[in-house]
Amino acid sequence: MTCLLIGDISQSTLDPAGVGAERIAELFHWMVGGGVLIWLIVVGVAVYSLIVPGGHRPRLTKTLVIGGGAVFPTLVLTCLLCYALAMLPELHQPAPKASLTIDVSGVRWWWRIGYRTGENGRVETANEIRLPVDQPVEFKLRSEDVIHSFWIPALGGKVDMIPGRETRLKLHPNRVGRFRGACAEYCGTAHAQMAFDVIVMPQADFDQWLRDQQQDAREPVGAAAVRGRQLFRRKGCGACHTIRGTEASGRVGPDLTHFAGRVSLGAGINRNDTDNLRRWIRQPHAVKPGVQMPAFQALSTSEVDSIVAYLEQLN
Ligand code: CUA
Repeated sequence: MTCLLIGDISQSTLDPAGVGAERIAELFHWMVGGGVLIWLIVVGVAVYSLIVPGGHRPRLTKTLVIGGGAVFPTLVLTCLLCYALAMLPELHQPAPKASLTIDVSGVRWWWRIGYRTGENGRVETANEIRLPVDQPVEFKLRSEDVIHSFWIPALGGKVDMIPGRETRLKLHPNRVGRFRGACAEYCGTAHAQMAFDVIVMPQADFDQWLRDQQQDAREPVGAAAVRGRQLFRRKGCGACHTIRGTEASGRVGPDLTHFAGRVSLGAGINRNDTDNLRRWIRQPHAVKPGVQMPAFQALSTSEVDSIVAYLEQLN
């Protein structure tokens, strides 16, 4: 399985890793090129008009107003507009038929991810989207509260997630790697911390990963993890979180069935490691202001460590 570090992450539109993003980068470069060309000509003409002898000014002014003020900008802007409009249908339909459909819901302030498997199967995860390389994929986007916007800059354009309706986005990643996705519509306190990881991997690795995701959570091994599982139940964590294969079936917060396999914690904001997880359980608000999860400061250090030990086995 491909292993990527938290630092090795791209979220630049100008470093495309998908078909749609390549076209957007191309459009951007043409627009910048066109803009620079207009700017150079305007500055050139302005300088020229300052040094031209006084007697020639009336004729020059007329030429400049008609040529430089109307004809030239109309010509350049029309060309750029036609170029961009011609690209639009292609951006909306980059792929003939998506082989993979993924449901994504925006929730303040994290992402619910659902993979459709087989006829009516569905497997849920959170804050991390894994994709096979060189395969078109269709996202069906919803919101569970306010308007969010789904954006993976390195793969393509963004689409709003609107409460009460479904929007769609097709992407076609063509490079293996780890990319950052983000919410691109202001949605409240933790909007800036509503991110997610996108991991594009070889098809075989992806298939294996998806098979693993369909498994129930593994049983805890060792005294600490077993105690952690009991505490998880006793403290009522299962009222908000689901861990498949256990009685925890809450839908308020992220599904934790394969939590330990995720690279980041708190919707793309921290590396998923022991220290961050301890801090998150005790004081999630200190890590991410506005988060809906209550703080569990009353837990003793050893209780927190037990819960951490349990969660870290969920891979
Ligand atoms: Cu969700 Cu901004």
